[in-house]
Amino acid sequence: MGIIDDIKKAGRSLVRKDVLTAPFVAEMKSTTANMYRLGWDERNGGNISYLLDENEVAEYLDLENVVRTIPTGFVVPELVGKIFIVTGTGKYFKNVQSDPENNLGIIRIAADGTTAELLWGFADGGRFTSELPSHLMCHAARLRVDPENRVVMHCHPTHTLAMNYVHELDEKKFTHTLWEMCTECIVVFPDGVGILPWMLCGTNEIGEATAKKMNDFRLVVWAMHGIYGVGKTMDETFGLIETVEKTAQIYMLTAHLPRKNAIKDSQMRELAEFFKVDYRKDFLK
Ligand code: 13P
Ligand code: ZN
Repeated sequence: MGIIDDIKKAGRSLVRKDVLTAPFVAEMKSTTANMYRLGWDERNGGNISYLLDENEVAEYLDLENVVRTIPTGFVVPELVGKIFIVTGTGKYFKNVQSDPENNLGIIRIAADGTTAELLWGFADGGRFTSELPSHLMCHAARLRVDPENRVVMHCHPTHTLAMNYVHELDEKKFTHTLWEMCTECIVVFPDGVGILPWMLCGTNEIGEATAKKMNDFRLVVWAMHGIYGVGKTMDETFGLIETVEKTAQIYMLTAHLPRKNAIKDSQMRELAEFFKVDYRKDFLK
């Protein structure tokens, strides 16, 4: 390498900003704190992955400096070179805000499509979430449907989970119940909610099954476990899960009471048409 390159490299590292001040770290901190506060992420429950822009990351980190490599155990050729900030396995969402460097990590998928190159974080020797297969496979699936997708979020929201035990786990019926419990649901998630039967979590198999559902849905319930949401931004993704959870709460508060009123299918159709959303027409009666 010539002297000019050395000077350029030294210059870049001089102007590099502190990653703890990066907006994407701030978003991870505030989102995990909100999710914890809402009771969606007890103990180490839940995980988030956020696709970052390489140029933005380069403002904070030397992209040539790989701290260590961690095998993922699966291959995602579409994500080679992509950089994500992810929550760590076994880490508590309640602690991310005060200690991001141990609870979060920034990884890049290496040229082999299976190794994660750690660029920052997991400072105590930790590693990415055990649900990385589901996260990365969902990113790959969603990017095919929507090239602007950037966030995959998993959590254990209380009322959504409670509903799993008393409501049929049928995508059409589950979605219909949510749509009819809250006027704005059909507008917020017109594509409905996908459902996977109970499966062993943390495996490539549940990752493949979740990613397959993500071809049609932005929300996927893992029966008797939790929910996955995806979106272009942290707000959009959070808002999807928040809307399902709020509605599941209304359902759980009223499921045992005599039903006097309901939003009719004709009214849901009216809403979807007025707000011009492409809704699952086959999910209405
Ligand atoms: P991690 O601590 O590995 O992220 O797992 C939490 C979880 O919710 C598993 O589904
Ligand atoms: Zn979980």
